[in-house]
Amino acid sequence: MTNLNPKRLIAPLMLGMAMVLVGCQSMNSQPDASLYQQLGEREGIANVVEDLLYLIVEDDRINQQFKGMDVAQFHHNLTDQLCELSGGPCTYTGREMRELHSDMAITDTQFNALAENLILAMEQNDIPTGAQNRLIKRLLPLYPDIRNL
Ligand code: HEM
Repeated sequence: MTNLNPKRLIAPLMLGMAMVLVGCQSMNSQPDASLYQQLGEREGIANVVEDLLYLIVEDDRINQQFKGMDVAQFHHNLTDQLCELSGGPCTYTGREMRELHSDMAITDTQFNALAENLILAMEQNDIPTGAQNRLIKRLLPLYPDIRNL
């Protein structure tokens, strides 16, 4: 039979608890100054969103969906959202993602088109590739809400 000496269990137990604590710390949304700074802070992000808007208008895969929207509001809210997601000192005060996109029947092709345009806009603003990827990674958890899955 296995020897279940309680003294032998203490060390692994403590290690396990320490790992859980470290894990929790890295999961909470601690501001990540480096990504926010790599994006050029709020001003840099605002420039990216402006260029994204031009790309959306030109893109026949998605521009119909955006017809008639309040451009200034979209620009302000998406800038805040990306600022907050990148660890910047902003608070997103726009509408809730699922509710906002729920009637749009957004397809994978359209979701990808928007992500592609965001990458292009970051490219146009000389954002380093690593920072581009990290921002996209932070947007991915929004995918099920935006696709209404
Ligand atoms: C990563 C993907 C996406 C993110 C992070 C995102 C985020 C946002 C944000 C922050 C707003 C502004 C919210 C507000 O003003 O309250 C918005 C509005 C909007 N989004 Fe998205 N979105 C995404 C994908 C898409 C896609 C793929 C489409 C359609 C093809 C789309 C269509 C729209 C439209 C039409 C509006 C304006 C709605 C209105 O003002 O009535 N979005 N989105």
